[in-house]
Amino acid sequence: MNHISDLGSLMIVGGQWGDEGKGKVVDLLSGSFAVVVRYNGGHNAGHTVRFADRRFALHLVPSGIIHEHVVCYLASGMVIDPAALVEEIDTLAAERVGVDGRLWLSPRANLILPTHRALDAAREGARGQRKIGTTGRGIGPAYQDLAQRRGLRAHLLGDPDRLAASARSVMAQHNRELERVYDAEPVDEERALEELLQAAERTAPLLREVGPELLRHAARGERILFEGAQGVLLDLAWGTYPYVTSSSCLPGSAATSCGVGPRLLGPVVGVMKAYVTRVGGGPFPSELDGPEGDQLRERGAEYGTTTGRPRRCGWFDAVAARYAVQVAGLDAVALMKLDILDGLDRLQVVVGYEMPDGSTLDTMPADLEVLERVRPKLAEIPGWSAPTEGVTADEDLPPGAHAYLRFLEGQLGVPIVLVSTGARREETLIRRGAPLAAQLQSLIPSLDAATP
Ligand code: IMP
Repeated sequence: MNHISDLGSLMIVGGQWGDEGKGKVVDLLSGSFAVVVRYNGGHNAGHTVRFADRRFALHLVPSGIIHEHVVCYLASGMVIDPAALVEEIDTLAAERVGVDGRLWLSPRANLILPTHRALDAAREGARGQRKIGTTGRGIGPAYQDLAQRRGLRAHLLGDPDRLAASARSVMAQHNRELERVYDAEPVDEERALEELLQAAERTAPLLREVGPELLRHAARGERILFEGAQGVLLDLAWGTYPYVTSSSCLPGSAATSCGVGPRLLGPVVGVMKAYVTRVGGGPFPSELDGPEGDQLRERGAEYGTTTGRPRRCGWFDAVAARYAVQVAGLDAVALMKLDILDGLDRLQVVVGYEMPDGSTLDTMPADLEVLERVRPKLAEIPGWSAPTEGVTADEDLPPGAHAYLRFLEGQLGVPIVLVSTGARREETLIRRGAPLAAQLQSLIPSLDAATP
């Protein structure tokens, strides 16, 4: 395996169904990088940023922006709602974080229009019981237009006349679909256009090709952090299709999205929770419907950053996690929210999927109907009573927590290199001796004192 000291880049991706705590890991690391890149999705993602005693949510702009020296890129594989981007720039300005010269948008990214949002809602309504539970941000319809080759690319933000003409034509098609297919209210095109043109004026100065810039940064020996949004199990091809998002969440897609070769990408750290959560519909073999699930939700404050929806909760699913390690090529795992399991008498981990005919599956099937029929095979592991909350050194974890980490590592086949034991930055430990541990340690100087 390559080391980041050789390569200068690192990738952080979600290893479950999103909301794993990538924001905290990126927040810990980004100050040591010159560049942070987002390569998939749009403002369906979200993380809370803690800055100067205040908290605010960012959905598009990488949280690395709060470090004055960090340059952020939104790459071509993203879908961008220009009004949402303006709103974030304003939020940052209110916090005295300027983005001038430090935030760049690929001219090849695709735009989300207000009619995409309306179509998202109408399509979800039409799916009834089988609805995907999207974030309602217009993500799927925007990617659909991209694949259908009628999408609006971000370079149009710099050409208001062409933008207006293209937007009018596409919004008219969307409105016809809204009215004729879904019997839904059309969007007021003129108002939408006015808002779009206003947002275009603000965002046009951000346009810049991402790939050549990344190559320049790399040539200067500057470190690049690639930040994946959502998670492996929400990936369009490798997730629980069709209950997925519409972008590629796998690390390899960063190369395509940025327009650089795969060699520029670094080792991959997959972020996973010590249990599992999911928002929206779709199969979830380790889900806990009853009080145990409610307990995890309340203890872990499992409500969405973007939509506020309660998250579905369940035990750690080692089958799904092993699959994520394989399809995303994870080199190591960062395990988040271990402290939420403190004080539980016993824990369970899904170690296999039992099929109706009694056979066992040990990986995620391609066919969703198969996944819907499996019953989880559970391994029981004793809990621990001494808290892990706030623990900052591996050796201070209670033996039961150590045993849990070792059990998960045995299932995953890759090491757990970082463990989060609380919401605060310093409530984090790096597991000494694990591959990548020394590199992460040097990139997170604030943890030096805790784990010398
Ligand atoms: P969409 O991305 O809004 O189309 O939503 C598709 C599915 O992905 C739904 O189940 C959403 O709940 C889920 N999803 C999208 N973005 C996120 C995220 O950032 N965290 C967790 N789930 C997400």
